[in-house]
Amino acid sequence: ALVSLRQLLDHAAENGYGLPAFNVNNLEQIHAIMQAADECDSPVIMQGSAGARKYAGEAFLRHLIAAAVEAYPHIPVVMHQDHGASPAVCINAIRSGFSSVMMDGSLEADAKTPSSYEYNVNITAQVVDIAHSVGVSVEGELGCLGSLESGMGEAEDGHGAEGVLSHDQLLTDPEQAADFVKKTGVDALAIAIGTSHGAYKFTRKPTGDILAIERIKAIHQRIPNTHLVMHGSSSVPQEWLEVIREYGGEMKETYGVPVEEIQEGIKNGVRKINIDTDIRLAMTGAIRRHLAHNKSEFDPRKFLKEATTAAKDICKARFEAFGCAGQA
Ligand code: G3H
Ligand code: 13P
Ligand code: NA
Ligand code: ZN
Repeated sequence: ALVSLRQLLDHAAENGYGLPAFNVNNLEQIHAIMQAADECDSPVIMQGSAGARKYAGEAFLRHLIAAAVEAYPHIPVVMHQDHGASPAVCINAIRSGFSSVMMDGSLEADAKTPSSYEYNVNITAQVVDIAHSVGVSVEGELGCLGSLESGMGEAEDGHGAEGVLSHDQLLTDPEQAADFVKKTGVDALAIAIGTSHGAYKFTRKPTGDILAIERIKAIHQRIPNTHLVMHGSSSVPQEWLEVIREYGGEMKETYGVPVEEIQEGIKNGVRKINIDTDIRLAMTGAIRRHLAHNKSEFDPRKFLKEATTAAKDICKARFEAFGCAGQA
């Protein structure tokens, strides 16, 4: 059944687990997520970005997710708009049946200093007003996340958030988070705590201090009833990077957020963990490998099935690691 983000994350908070929110663009990704959730009895958050809408078309995206809800009636599913860049985007998503929207006021806000904070508060509060009147949840964002907003993270120099987001002033400020939540009424808040979007997050193997855990604790203490969201949470599996390289792909050395650190985040109030890149890497590796081994194959179902299985394994591993397996 389609449920709101608030419903699902309230249950996660009561029971001390977190939920991966997987980005979806096509049938195979949705199959992978639902098969994994079905096998380990997990609730599901699927989210569509502006890029997903552009790729699939709004109607296809919406109906594909609706098909998942119909095919797996026993699994709670959140249909979430990822990184809504304006109230109009969010309102359109609400009209077309999404049960949750992200008003990413930081996108515009960062460019509009010094009035950026007020701008973010105002547009987010507007969206909350409308969304809550029809039972839809809202995620806001506060702080400077890498890549999407600022060109950091998946940057040309491949340096990810290193040496940039480690600066305290770019992390979400707990007092400002409290003020933001009080003024907007968001259900969930995306915070900047050391992650960035894309495959190129860190150039060195992480040694256990990627996430600003003390900052997460401080924010959670100030806004215990607002669910914390971590964007840029792919772990960038080294196994898949190796498969991609082995079968002709080119990927520079790069590292993601270790699953153990995400688990530490979950212990301290993180409830929604956004993952896109890991599924992309697994699907690409699986397709490259399959086609290299089956040079006369030309039925797309054959290699897409490999991609689906690879994505499914990633999803299942995250459901199990984040504690949501068995919670559907
Ligand atoms: O937040 C970013 C997600 O990874 C979506 O990426 O804009 O390429 O669809 P996209
Ligand atoms: P990754 O690029 O780390 O998978 O993050 C995805 C994300 O945050 C989508 O909003
Ligand atoms: Na989101
Ligand atoms: Zn994101």
